[in-house]
Amino acid sequence: MIIKKAQKTDVKALVKLENETFSDANFPLSRESFYYHIKRNLLLVVYDDKFELLGYALALIHRKKAKLYSLCIQKSYRGSGIAKKLMEQLFYSLNQLNFKIIILEVRQDNYGAINFYKKLGFKQLAISLSFYKDGSNALIMERKIVN
Ligand SMILES: CC(C)(COP(=O)(O)OP(=O)(O)OC[C@H]1O[C@@H](n2cnc3c(N)ncnc32)[C@H](O)[C@@H]1OP(=O)(O)O)[C@@H](O)C(=O)NCCC(=O)NCCS
Repeated sequence: MIIKKAQKTDVKALVKLENETFSDANFPLSRESFYYHIKRNLLLVVYDDKFELLGYALALIHRKKAKLYSLCIQKSYRGSGIAKKLMEQLFYSLNQLNFKIIILEVRQDNYGAINFYKKLGFKQLAISLSFYKDGSNALIMERKIVN
């Protein structure tokens, strides 16, 4: 497995994975958005040994607290510890950039992701009512970069 900072050459595979994972209601990131985040934020990608894209993690870094903006692992590869490894690398990179805290928002009904974040040490801070366009609430969670 290879984890690295995303480059322009990763965008095609990122868009494919994004559209396979997130429906329109979940506002999948566009090609242009990925190009923007590669330039401006911290976007890590994970590949297998055959250079197939397995997932990505995107953190916004132009703020006091880093913010996990999106995280996605290809469906057939979930449950084997890939997201955990990717997030550990993200925490390492954020620590290098001097961030102390990372926050995130997650749909209140995304039980799998919430469980995943709790296992990584994120704590619930608040609930943001009707955060999403379909009226769903979001949990706001936070973790120290170095636990
Ligand atoms: C959430 C997601 C990133 C997890 O990726 P993953 O590679 O399957 O996660 P891991 O295998 O690294 O799991 C790490 C731990 O979290 C737990 N976990 C992961 N997904 C879980 C789920 N759906 N339900 C319950 N627990 C889960 C695992 O059991 C594991 O626990 P362990 O360390 O005790 O064994 C992945 O399911 C995904 O891409 N989902 C779709 C997109 C999404 O919802 N993104 C997050 C919101 S933006």
